[in-house]
Amino acid sequence: MATITWSEMMSVGVPALDADHKTLIGLINNLHRSVGDEEEYATLGSVLQALEEYADHHFAREERVMAACRYPSAETHARMHRRLTQQVRDLRAAYDADRTAVRAKQCLDFLHKWLIEHICSTDMDYRAWVIGHADAASAAGTAALSDQRSSANLDWKTLKVLVVDDNQNFCQVMRTILEGVGVGDIRVAADLAAARAALQGKSVDVVITDWHVGRESGLELVAWLRRQADLAHLPVLMLSGHERVANRDVALNAGADDFMEKPISARGLLICLARLMRKGREA
Ligand SMILES: [Fe+2]
Ligand SMILES: [Fe+2]
Repeated sequence: MATITWSEMMSVGVPALDADHKTLIGLINNLHRSVGDEEEYATLGSVLQALEEYADHHFAREERVMAACRYPSAETHARMHRRLTQQVRDLRAAYDADRTAVRAKQCLDFLHKWLIEHICSTDMDYRAWVIGHADAASAAGTAALSDQRSSANLDWKTLKVLVVDDNQNFCQVMRTILEGVGVGDIRVAADLAAARAALQGKSVDVVITDWHVGRESGLELVAWLRRQADLAHLPVLMLSGHERVANRDVALNAGADDFMEKPISARGLLICLARLMRKGREA
């Protein structure tokens, strides 16, 4: 099964809904790339969690648009959403209960059907009702997945983020989540030398680093950052998929500003970044 590329043919005629669909497709593509990855479980868990969060967020947005445009099959469509939501919740619950019970490959067929068929077929049925409708854009709104209070006044489009992780599939998941709220400048470094090069002399607003970056440690990167006069106050979020050796206290004592365990929640990540940026502005 190949990755999926969003095209204009898939457009439902409302930019905010198209943007949601691109993010959902991006997440499924992330899962596709993670099959067989040695850290598959971390990517799979994060993708399933993000899919659940984005599906809730997107379905609510879509249902507001259908109602505002008086789409006659809105109720039937919403019932399909409930079913899809429950199915992805069940998948994630199975994953949470036993990480070895759910593999990326098994999820793909299901998710392909789950989303692609829905976006390319069921969603297309409302297109004629919403396209060009005066109330469609306002009903869709501009709300991002992140909490509105914590992200108030944060301009995601101008945010510059450096992601430091040797797992390229996980970096792609981060990219999909960040692009989903409009972050336009996302740099990725697979080792500490690349991270230092990406930071020196260049403006970055926040660093997200894994605990283990190949054989190197994200803690070392934080220690280096805190020694640099011009980077000492740069907000750092540390992630880890190795909770036995990593923990929040060690990360914070080393100079990180926050810590999250993989698999991560997309909403949790965005709220955390918004909080870090707000703290930085107030400092
Ligand atoms: Fe949709
Ligand atoms: Fe839908």
